Amino acid sequence: MKFTLFTVFALAASAIAAPVVKRATTSDAAPYGYATLNGGTTGGSGGRTVTVNTLAELKTAASASGASIIIIGSSITGAESVKVASNKTIVGKSSSITLNGVGLIVKSASNVIIRNLKIQKVLASSGDAIAINKGTNVWIDHVDVSSDRDHDKDYYDGLLDFTHAADYVTVSNSYIHDHWKASLIGHSDSNSAEDTGHLRVTFANNYFQNLNSRGPSYRFGTGHIYNNYYDTVSDGINTRDGAQLLVENNVFSGSKKPLYSTDKGYAVATGNDFGGESNTALAGTLTKAPYTYTKIDAAKVKAAVVGTAGATLSF
Ligand SMILES: *[C@@H]1O[C@H](CO)[C@@H](O)[C@H](O)[C@H]1NC(C)=O
Repeated sequence: MKFTLFTVFALAASAIAAPVVKRATTSDAAPYGYATLNGGTTGGSGGRTVTVNTLAELKTAASASGASIIIIGSSITGAESVKVASNKTIVGKSSSITLNGVGLIVKSASNVIIRNLKIQKVLASSGDAIAINKGTNVWIDHVDVSSDRDHDKDYYDGLLDFTHAADYVTVSNSYIHDHWKASLIGHSDSNSAEDTGHLRVTFANNYFQNLNSRGPSYRFGTGHIYNNYYDTVSDGINTRDGAQLLVENNVFSGSKKPLYSTDKGYAVATGNDFGGESNTALAGTLTKAPYTYTKIDAAKVKAAVVGTAGATLSF
């Protein structure tokens, strides 16, 4: 390259223009939200790395003891939920890696990271796309979970369902779409004894689209929901049975009930754009999240989330 004054200016300009994006790595830990509490969520970081290409290989790796990073190298089809044991990071190698009909369940396990995976059309008889049942410290990031709305409401179960005192969970940068009942936190009005004091879940920077309800729905738990973009989600955030939510700087377009209470659920809402509808939730007491985080103005949320949320990484 012949250096001229022009070249120098051009290089300087391109250096300024290039966005500083930190590349995702398989050893990343949860960076914000409830998953950063209780010791943090590091998944399989520090353990061995294994690449799996079949359902059998995924099941073996996910249920093994000890810390490991599991890279899914090929799309996988089946009809079941794969149990994920403690201290695991599971990532899709590229943005096209899809689990068709195969869900993941973190049951009585802790410290799990699930990133960069498409999970679709998991039948109700197989479970949810991602379930956490008594699991703690789970970071779900850059996933794309969906089914369709061509069948009845119970043909599929939930996309992201966290139950039985699941705790310290962050869902970030994910695309949650084309489904009836998206995300249920707390499965039953009569499970107060087990759930009260648990079910602490953060939803940040996610894109919710074409859902009928549960975007998400919380019973008993504590939720922080910020910087999410909602497009055509009929019944959005539902706070129930004493749940306390902090709902900040989200944007709704085409929702009938963006934020509402059932059975004495509560919320504090600030900086949201409800798309011309109203917040009808009972006023809550959760005014501050117990960790540091960065939020952006509602006016910037759509541009920040659409196109970034979902399985858009590669490892
Ligand atoms: C997960 O890793 C932590 C830290 O190394 C360890 O204390 C714990 O026993 C592990 N859990 C399981 C179930 O192996």
